Amino acid sequence: MSVLIKNGRVITATDDYFADVLVEGEKITQIGATLDVHADRVIDATGKLVIPGGIDAHTHLDMPFGGTTSADDFESGTRAAAFGGTTTLIDFAIQTKGQSTLAGLDTWHAKAEGKASIDYGFHMIVTDMPEERLPELERLAEQGVTSYKLFMAYPGVLYVDDGTLYRAFRRAGENGTRICMHAENGIVIDEIVKQAIADGKVEPKYHALTRPTRMEAEGVHRAIAIAEVANVPLYIVHLSCADALDEVKRGRARGVDVTCETCPQYLFLDYSYYEREGFEGAKWVMTPALREKWNQDVLWKGLELGHIGNVATDHCPFCFKGQKDLGVGDFRKIPNGAPGLENRMTLMYHGAVVQKRLSLNRWVEITSTTAAKTFGLFPKKGTIAVGSDADIVVFDPNRKETIGVNNPFTHHMRVDFSAYEGFQVQGFSDVVLSRGRVMVEGGKLATEGGGRFIKRARVGELLR
Ligand code: URP
Ligand code: ZN
Ligand code: ZN
Repeated sequence: MSVLIKNGRVITATDDYFADVLVEGEKITQIGATLDVHADRVIDATGKLVIPGGIDAHTHLDMPFGGTTSADDFESGTRAAAFGGTTTLIDFAIQTKGQSTLAGLDTWHAKAEGKASIDYGFHMIVTDMPEERLPELERLAEQGVTSYKLFMAYPGVLYVDDGTLYRAFRRAGENGTRICMHAENGIVIDEIVKQAIADGKVEPKYHALTRPTRMEAEGVHRAIAIAEVANVPLYIVHLSCADALDEVKRGRARGVDVTCETCPQYLFLDYSYYEREGFEGAKWVMTPALREKWNQDVLWKGLELGHIGNVATDHCPFCFKGQKDLGVGDFRKIPNGAPGLENRMTLMYHGAVVQKRLSLNRWVEITSTTAAKTFGLFPKKGTIAVGSDADIVVFDPNRKETIGVNNPFTHHMRVDFSAYEGFQVQGFSDVVLSRGRVMVEGGKLATEGGGRFIKRARVGELLR
């Protein structure tokens, strides 16, 4: 099967030009000002942007958490991702405490295999790492799992102590792999939470009010210090606030290999959502929590200046009815997380390009190329180039949509609300190709399934 995308404006992290792009099989095989070649299928991209498919480096599909399981599995989640212009995601496999990380990986392979419509990789969530288990980290890397997430938050669940952090960091560094860090001082937060509950403060907003930004900043500071000593590249996930970003800037200024992601929710939403009537604030109970609005400008500036390298969703959806309501009367029991996988590309185009905060190139960089480079997918993914996978989005820069759970163009996630309900956005995916297959066209699913596990390269290595 060959596809010729004609007359589009090709945007990568570095380039911006008008060209035709030829796809043969799974790869991009020719790019030229005018390609006079036969193709099975011709897509007219006049007036459209031709961009590398989005890469979401942070999702939680089919994840058991908070006494329930995230509402999107690999079937619904990857389908929704394709509708939104994301053609690769990196999900989090989880090690069951006391058991092998390799067994955890097998569990996540079984969840995804045969279900995914787009390509995917896995980070491994490490929940304990005694000395004798350390060789598993190399086995994981050999199997294409070249990044590990550890938690300073959620004591008793995913939390690990600083000794475990150091052991895992050191070995990950030796193996040429990367650490992803959930940086928040969960031990102190737990004390604040206990006090709130004792005082009868049980509504959703207390999830946010018991998690001060200082405790995120402290976690970021500590993670950077440990990574510096252990000599491992560090990636702070879901950075939410100015306090935490200051610590990343300080680390980078002294030469530590630390980078970070933020998420659309921290760029577009804020603490006031928790103040909504009744229990509605539970929709946005996530960790870190939404912050005071002024933080948003600081995060956008961080993206502009390069202190923040990537935007991922932390997509972890729980239905309002039947899942979030587990926490009526006790915010601790509200499952943490919110949906967003499908909305990321369009929200970021709107906030970055339409609202004139970032260039087109930077938009592509923070939604695709940086993730590919950081997590061993580049240049197979994350760019438009001869030899790269034909993960391509023909993006309409003028199309307007109002995001909402009842809008058939913006909501294919298996969750009963939208975190961005009523947001008016400009810029929307028109045609989405995953390894040369037209997945979505004109708002309709053209193909389903066929997503593959991608063995990612180690830090600094290319993937072809
Ligand atoms: O609230 C969140 N973020 N849920 C997902 C788990 C995590 O910490 O990333
Ligand atoms: Zn986290
Ligand atoms: Zn997460």
